Amino acid sequence: MADYLADAPKKKVTTLELVQMKRKGQKIVMITAYDALFGALVDAAGVDVVLVGDSVAPVLAGEETTIPATVEQMIYHGKIARRGIKRALVVVDLPFLSYQVSIPDAIANAGRILKETGAAAVKLEGGSTWASTIAALVNAGIPVMGHLGFTPQSVHQLGGFKIQGKQADGAARLVEDAKALEQAGAFSMVLELMPGPVAKSVTASVAIPTIGIGAGPDCDGQVLVLHDMLGLNEGFTPKFLKRYAELGQEARTAIGRFGEEVRSGAYPGPEHTHGG
Ligand code: KIV
Repeated sequence: MADYLADAPKKKVTTLELVQMKRKGQKIVMITAYDALFGALVDAAGVDVVLVGDSVAPVLAGEETTIPATVEQMIYHGKIARRGIKRALVVVDLPFLSYQVSIPDAIANAGRILKETGAAAVKLEGGSTWASTIAALVNAGIPVMGHLGFTPQSVHQLGGFKIQGKQADGAARLVEDAKALEQAGAFSMVLELMPGPVAKSVTASVAIPTIGIGAGPDCDGQVLVLHDMLGLNEGFTPKFLKRYAELGQEARTAIGRFGEEVRSGAYPGPEHTHGG
């Protein structure tokens, strides 16, 4: 970690820099954060991109899917996460129905998100169907990250949390969609839940970076949901997830110890008592 931080540029990461990173073969590190505390932590750890994902709905708000996330929620979490971030590029998800209804709606919602959070870009889900929306956002000066493969806002249409592009026609569609996003002006895209070889061909088919989650090692970068990789979201255990810590277990142990010490009178001791 210390070595990585020594090499990391200290100036703010830009969308153009991410494209250059792909050109130079440097892997992009993206992680989610929904508040200033974790925003500051992940930024200090040297990640390149912080995603204020609509995963905030299932991960923090206890919803079953990302579908209930609202523009107001994304603005609130975008704003507080961004306060903690000095270097990383901040991207905020456009929630369900904030860009699907009409292009003017999409520009108004994405514009509000950029103005009110201070984020540098938005992310939206889907392929060539949304190319004209992406082009309109980019023309309005709003950088867009795409999202292909398993698109959580379409979970009901996709029939659940399922790997996409397993058949040849689905894999070919993913490549075509990736090209359409690039053509429309997206600066990067997330590839979620697809076979590694499919993500590899998608990545090779575009000059903009792909950032994988459950899409194997050949993407230009990787993203994980912070609460999942820290072991705070303990019920979520997909194959692709590597837990780098077990903070859920640590938190339970610490809170249990606090309870025991309060009940036994061991806490607070003289060292925690004013004038004690
Ligand atoms: O909302 C989110 O956290 C995401 C990631 C899973 C990429 O879209």
